[in-house]
Amino acid sequence: MKTNPNCYQLFAAFCMGLALLASPVAFGRGPGLANVTILATGGTIAGTGATSTTTVGYTAATVGVARLIEAVPELKKVANVKGEQVFQIASENMNNDSWLKLAKRVNELLAQDDVDGIVITHGTDTIEETAYFLNLVVKSRKPVVIVGAMRPSTAISADGPVNLYNAVTLAGSEEAVGKGVMVVLNDQINGARDVTKTNTANADTFRSWELGFLGYMQDNRPHFYRLSTRKHTVDTEFDVSKLESLPQVDIVYGYANMNRIPIDAFVAAGDKGIVHAGVGDGSLARPAVEPALIEARKKGVIIVRSSRVGNGIVARNGEAKDDDLDFVVSDTLNPQKARILLMLALTKTSDTKEIQRMFYTY
Ligand code: SIN
Repeated sequence: MKTNPNCYQLFAAFCMGLALLASPVAFGRGPGLANVTILATGGTIAGTGATSTTTVGYTAATVGVARLIEAVPELKKVANVKGEQVFQIASENMNNDSWLKLAKRVNELLAQDDVDGIVITHGTDTIEETAYFLNLVVKSRKPVVIVGAMRPSTAISADGPVNLYNAVTLAGSEEAVGKGVMVVLNDQINGARDVTKTNTANADTFRSWELGFLGYMQDNRPHFYRLSTRKHTVDTEFDVSKLESLPQVDIVYGYANMNRIPIDAFVAAGDKGIVHAGVGDGSLARPAVEPALIEARKKGVIIVRSSRVGNGIVARNGEAKDDDLDFVVSDTLNPQKARILLMLALTKTSDTKEIQRMFYTY
């Protein structure tokens, strides 16, 4: 039954309207600017070249976080920004220890009430790996945005400043909350699970291929159109808070005329897991590769069949009898991301059924 509001209800609504008018929300969640911390790790975004036309052969990771922030005064209009230099490296030098350190710092900061979001400046070469690692271990719904650049800070049309502006805007936005770790370059927002670098030098290098990127940065705000259905951040079972190291997992690359030498070497080195970047649907060369992987599995090494193709599902029991051989398939994860999930899975279990479940969950 419809009832008319009484005078008290009308007065309360009038007061709420006045309160809203009196406190315009400038940006982010709640009144005022969002608080965004920038964690700098190096990369081309912090790189310098000999001249303004040097776009290859420059030195990555030379400019400190304070100068990165100073170079974009517009940041002050979209967030209260603080900077912290975590590393100063080219991202090919990123490793498991760096990831653990970075993840712990991100979790520590996001647990603070005065931090609304995090931006991580990073080299583009392994940005997708750091993003996926954090996507699995960050324990917060607050935004984490990883950003890089393809041109050094000294280059004509350096892409770092606008990328950093977009990243800070995104990290301070309400829209980004709960969307997992994101990678922003070239006005595009990509999800950590599916993004990959696809061009060695072009500014338009990041793709989520067939699964699609999440949205655009335009008009000083994010525009989201899709999301991954896979679990991330607060909804994962992984916890790095007490981890000092990660299990050794390596990748062997499949190709015509492949031999078993790398597989045997990794097993002899004590690897706990091997990701095989197979041809096609994760196929294993016979007689060289499949027997080597079967032997490795019998010695306790977890084998994940992935694919070097870049798109599509690696079918379980398709190109190998995975149930019989006790292998795991990577679903749609590329080999470098399958390696990350396998390392984290091995911190919880060595049961291949459980590990397969994780590959279908994350
Ligand atoms: C790096 O990944 O550190 C160098 C390349 C880049 O940032 O684009």
